[in-house]
Formats: sequence, structure tokens, C-alpha cells
Amino acid sequence: MKNIKRRDFLKTTTMTGVAAATSSIINLNAFAIPNKLVAGKPIVISSGNGAKALEKAMGMIQEGKDALDAVIAGVNIVEDDPNDMSVGYGGLPNEEGVVELDAAVMHGSSYRGGAVASIRNIKNPSKVARLVMERSDHVLIVGDGALKFAKAHGFMEENLLTDQAREAWLKWKENLSSEDDWLPPHTIEDKEIGQIYEKYLRHYGTIHLSGLDMNGNLSCVTTTSGLSYKIPGRVGDSPIIGAGLYCDNEVGSAGSTGRGEANLLNCSSVMIVEWMRQGKSPEESCILACKRINDRCREKRLQDDQGRFKYGVSFYAINKRGEYGGATLYSGGSFLIHDGTSVKKIESAYLFKK
Ligand code: GLY
Repeated sequence: MKNIKRRDFLKTTTMTGVAAATSSIINLNAFAIPNKLVAGKPIVISSGNGAKALEKAMGMIQEGKDALDAVIAGVNIVEDDPNDMSVGYGGLPNEEGVVELDAAVMHGSSYRGGAVASIRNIKNPSKVARLVMERSDHVLIVGDGALKFAKAHGFMEENLLTDQAREAWLKWKENLSSEDDWLPPHTIEDKEIGQIYEKYLRHYGTIHLSGLDMNGNLSCVTTTSGLSYKIPGRVGDSPIIGAGLYCDNEVGSAGSTGRGEANLLNCSSVMIVEWMRQGKSPEESCILACKRINDRCREKRLQDDQGRFKYGVSFYAINKRGEYGGATLYSGGSFLIHDGTSVKKIESAYLFKK
């Protein structure tokens, strides 16, 4: 994989209207420049955990496959990977130690979508989401209903909790509070045990892929085990069309990883596609989504001491011309693309410097 800084792609330094309107943006000049690829050339974009997924998806696109087939086959690799603890098999469980998965797909050329949420015991929720789209009159099926639907279509139930994920959950539980009865390993000399440590904190992991195929059609998928150690039944943005992903075949495709609650409240992915429809570049549109989350937050518990939204949210977008972009709330983020030659790591634009 090549690591490419965004400035290597930049050819001019023109300030756009959106840059002038977003005064809190640090790297104005950088994000104002569109990343132009050859018009109509296929492209796939993903979150940072999608290198193998991109290789798979682009290989299929180059064979002439539809973008939806390609992006789902791509994320299936990560759903099957026990070492990615944010997605599918091996994903971190809820607060009771049970893995609950969320996924959604959108198919550009047919303008359809499907999703499942809080599904247990099925390691490829993205495949079930596709079946919801193709084999039901619904868009979203949750919980036990989603499991029954999957089994009706021949999916096998599996235990998704790996030892690695169970041990991570147990450490979280044992270090959550010194006032409950769960204790981490300790000696008889220890006075204060069970205090929460940074390394056991919860996180939001997910994979998103958006793809443009050889026929110029767009599709996307987002799949996740959601917030680790969540309240059972908690659903984030990933299976919610418009929040964790959105695709319009005439315009572009977008998706997100990070704190799903922020995207649920801001309908971020559909907003990104609508900003692209208005003529903004993918990167500008992703920055606007970051800005919308930050500007609309009124809850002090979610803000740092400078009043900034303090959680991580990342956005990824491509448009119909094969241009791409990504942005995060804070500097230091990155995303991956496959432009038909290789997987490349790109620095994300950002709203705030860390
Ligand atoms: N973005 C993943 C989640 O919040 O569940």
C-alpha cells in the first residue's frame, strides 16, 4: 500500500465558497482543492481498515462486476476476520458479552437499499442487508426478526465472540468500577482495583466502502459491531440509510465511521451527497459534515474545554466523476482508496488540529 499525502495530489490553491464559510477549518487551502481523477475511472474508497476489502472490490470491478457485488465482497473479508474487532466475527460485544451487528447497503443504479440492526450469530450482516433489499418489501429488519430472516435464507448461526473479544470485554467489565463485584487480577496488597483505564475504554469501529464501477454506477456498504460494550439493542448510524451511508447514482456515495449518535442526529451521509449535488467536492462535503456535527452540538458532556465536539467521526465520499475525499473532526485521520492501480492511504482533511 502506498502512503500518499493529500498535497501530493494538489495542483492549485484556489479558495472555494465553502472554505470561506467554514471559519473553524484549519487547513483551508488543502481541502479546497478537488482530487481529480480521470473522469469515469472506477474508484473505491474505504475507512482505514479496508485495504484487503479494496483489493477485492477493485479486482471485481475491473472484471466488470457491479459496484454493489464488489463492495459487499470486499467487506465480507473484514467481517470474516477475527482480528478486526470492530466488524463481524470477532467484533467487540455489548455490555452483556453478546456480539450484535449492524449493516446496510445501497445500490445506486436501482435506487434501493437494505439493512439489518442488532443481529446476533450471523457473521456477514452485509449479505443479510442485501437480501433485505432484494428479497423483502422492507428496508430495515432488526434483532430476532433479522436473525429469523437470515436463517430463512440459509444463513447458519455461529458464535461470533472470539476469545480475544471476550477477554477485552472481561477487562472492560472488571475495570469499569471499583464499586461492583467484578475484580481484575490483583494481589492482596492492592487497595484500589477496578478503576477504568484508558486502554479499556469503549470505541466505535466500523468499515465503510463506496465504489464506482466500470459502468459508472455507484454503490456502498457500511458494516459494524457498533459501539463496544453498548447497551443491548443500541443501534448506531451504520445500518441507518442517510446517517452511516448514502448513495445517489446521479451524484455520489458517502459513508462514515466513528460516533454513530452524531450521524444519527445530523443525517450526515445524505447531507454529504446533497452537498456534492450542489457542486461541492467530496472533501468539501465531508468537512461540512464535520462542521455540522460540531456546530449543532449543545451538550457540554460531549464537548472539550474549548467547546469543540470531542468524539471522533470520519467521513468518506466519492462522486460520479471518480473524485474522492475524506475528513475527520481532528487532524491525524486517514482513509484508503483504490484507483485501479493500487491501494493508497490518504490523509483526511480535518476541522480541528489535535
Ligand atoms: N459508527 C458505528 C456506530 O456508531 O455504531
